[in-house]
Amino acid sequence: MFARIDHIGIAVTSIDEELALYEQTYEMEIAHREVIEQQGVEAVLLDIGESHVELLQPLGPGTPIGRFLDRRGPGVHHVAYQVADIDAELERLRDAGIQLIDQAPRTGIRGSRVAFCHPKSTGGVLTEIVEPAEAH
Ligand code: CO
Repeated sequence: MFARIDHIGIAVTSIDEELALYEQTYEMEIAHREVIEQQGVEAVLLDIGESHVELLQPLGPGTPIGRFLDRRGPGVHHVAYQVADIDAELERLRDAGIQLIDQAPRTGIRGSRVAFCHPKSTGGVLTEIVEPAEAH
């Protein structure tokens, strides 16, 4: 079962430039900032109620977010749903015919375990499922 929206992932060319909008105009607070080398991104989580906005800046042009920006420009990149047991959810989604990009969970932002589903099988929405780390 999906518990709630964990975050909305947004591709940006520059986190520092975009923070003017999110911090000053929207008055959101930064909860976390991290470079995730394995995914080729720098990411910032901003608090919005119980959920987050995740700004994603590519570390280079050949990274997944870099290629996304080339093709589509800045904007909404993915929706992430929070789950309690990602292993069980992945099995359930696989059985339901969802095409998984990640066959097994990998490490996401802030020590979470995450996996992505291919937008081909989710109505055009790149979908991430997230099992948060125990303590924030
Ligand atoms: Co995400």
